[in-house]
Amino acid sequence: MEFSIKTGNPEKELGDCVIVGVYESGQLSTAAEALDKASDHYLSKIIKNGDIDGKLASTLLLHHVPGITAGRVLLVGLGKQEEFAEKQYCQAVRASIKALSASPVKNVATYLTTLIVKDYAARWKVAHLAEVTLDATYKFEAIKSTKQQDEKNEQDKKPAKKSIKSLTIYINEKDSTAEAEAGLANGKALANGVSLTKTLGNLPPNVCTPSYLAEQAQSLAKQFGFGVEVLERKDLEKLGMGSFLGVTQGSEEPPKFIIMQHLKGNKAQKPVVLVGKGITFDTGGISLKPGAEMDEMKYDMCGAASVLGTFRTIAEMDLALNVIGIIPTCENMPDGRATRPGDVLTSMSGLTIEVLNTDAEGRLILCDALTYAERFEPSAVIDIATLTGACVIALGHHASGLFSNNDALAKELLQAGESALDRAWHMPMWDDYQPQLDSNFADIANIGGRAAGSITAACFLSRFTKKYEWAHLDIAGTAWKSGKEKGGTGRPVPLLTEFLVARANKA
Ligand code: BES
Ligand code: MN
Ligand code: ZN
Repeated sequence: MEFSIKTGNPEKELGDCVIVGVYESGQLSTAAEALDKASDHYLSKIIKNGDIDGKLASTLLLHHVPGITAGRVLLVGLGKQEEFAEKQYCQAVRASIKALSASPVKNVATYLTTLIVKDYAARWKVAHLAEVTLDATYKFEAIKSTKQQDEKNEQDKKPAKKSIKSLTIYINEKDSTAEAEAGLANGKALANGVSLTKTLGNLPPNVCTPSYLAEQAQSLAKQFGFGVEVLERKDLEKLGMGSFLGVTQGSEEPPKFIIMQHLKGNKAQKPVVLVGKGITFDTGGISLKPGAEMDEMKYDMCGAASVLGTFRTIAEMDLALNVIGIIPTCENMPDGRATRPGDVLTSMSGLTIEVLNTDAEGRLILCDALTYAERFEPSAVIDIATLTGACVIALGHHASGLFSNNDALAKELLQAGESALDRAWHMPMWDDYQPQLDSNFADIANIGGRAAGSITAACFLSRFTKKYEWAHLDIAGTAWKSGKEKGGTGRPVPLLTEFLVARANKA
């Protein structure tokens, strides 16, 4: 989709469709009012007739409105004017794009960016418009065979593809075009990262293997010019990553340990390290999972995908910050050589771990990556992982679970989540929970019983993060959707990007 930024009158717009907003009271937005005037109050009459009530995210497509150059006008409900804020703005934008998805429009102009959204300037509005639009039009088409698609198109007797080709974004006369352009560039960069994260999650596990993730990291690094290194099994053996190696040993796919370096801050600046769980398929291992919905365990690499997506975004933004990305990636499979319940592994830190359940494997690969992170003398380490089903029970699919050994860092991340509309919720990680990990046969057990499963998982990681400020995001409930809308969400790339941008602004 091509984007451009403009100022001018909606009645003169030449595209296939002009998008304008209407509040719930029947109050027209400024752009809608201009169309109303030019059309001899055509819009007012339609509203009076009750065809659209202005409820948030409702839409009405009008054709051949008199006195208007564009072929169509899309009215979008904005809800109550006094309640119209960030979230409502994004919902209205999403609804406007969804409403046009079945229509043959190619060139669209939107005036939603001229609305008043609290005290946000054009930069914010344009950034979110681009991001939400690209998010709403995301399609995963990499795998469906072209033959099937042709047949389907033939059946539908429709043109092969309906999609918006160009979107003209209108801003107010007083707005800065340069700021709006900057917002557009950032919004697109974020959308590209989110899209990459979704696609990596959606790819089948026989395609998206540890080697595939490593190749993705290498090709991104080449495209954007950041540093990358991939460690192989023999390197992991030399480093003493017995815990990570214990998880991968039942799989035919070779494990990879990916290190990416985006060093665009000043030389003395300590880096932020992002660590992503990259289990490309989680069968549970010898503690085999039940069969129902096991296919969804291809999403167990969404933490890794979010690190790759965030790297794509900050590289495209050329963000002035030092950021390291670490991805331990392997499969968790049952096999004659697989780790057994009862086995004791020696982690890179030296701590021994009694594996009481081979399905609690995420923490076993993360702990060695977290120890490895020490060498970067980080200002903060954030790990991102689809770590526990218990987190989904606690928070559902709306918020990611946030755990930290530092309240200031937790606050920064919560704030970033609020701003990016990609929220997290601060969970407790009190010492009271730590004894649940006691083991009779090793320094620590890899599970802590049924109670507070997401917290004891975080407690496990905390044993390996004593040397730096650390936070853990459990994205088990937020990284993908199940059911009819099954697919990756790209979360928490918006939260992470917002956090890093704020850090770059502070530096
Ligand atoms: N990848 C899963 C967590 C998960 C399960 C995420 C379902 C999303 C949906 C993780 O490796 C796992 O299996 N965790 C176990 C831990 C348990 C054995 C202590 C879980 O949550 O059941
Ligand atoms: Mn598991
Ligand atoms: Zn897992």
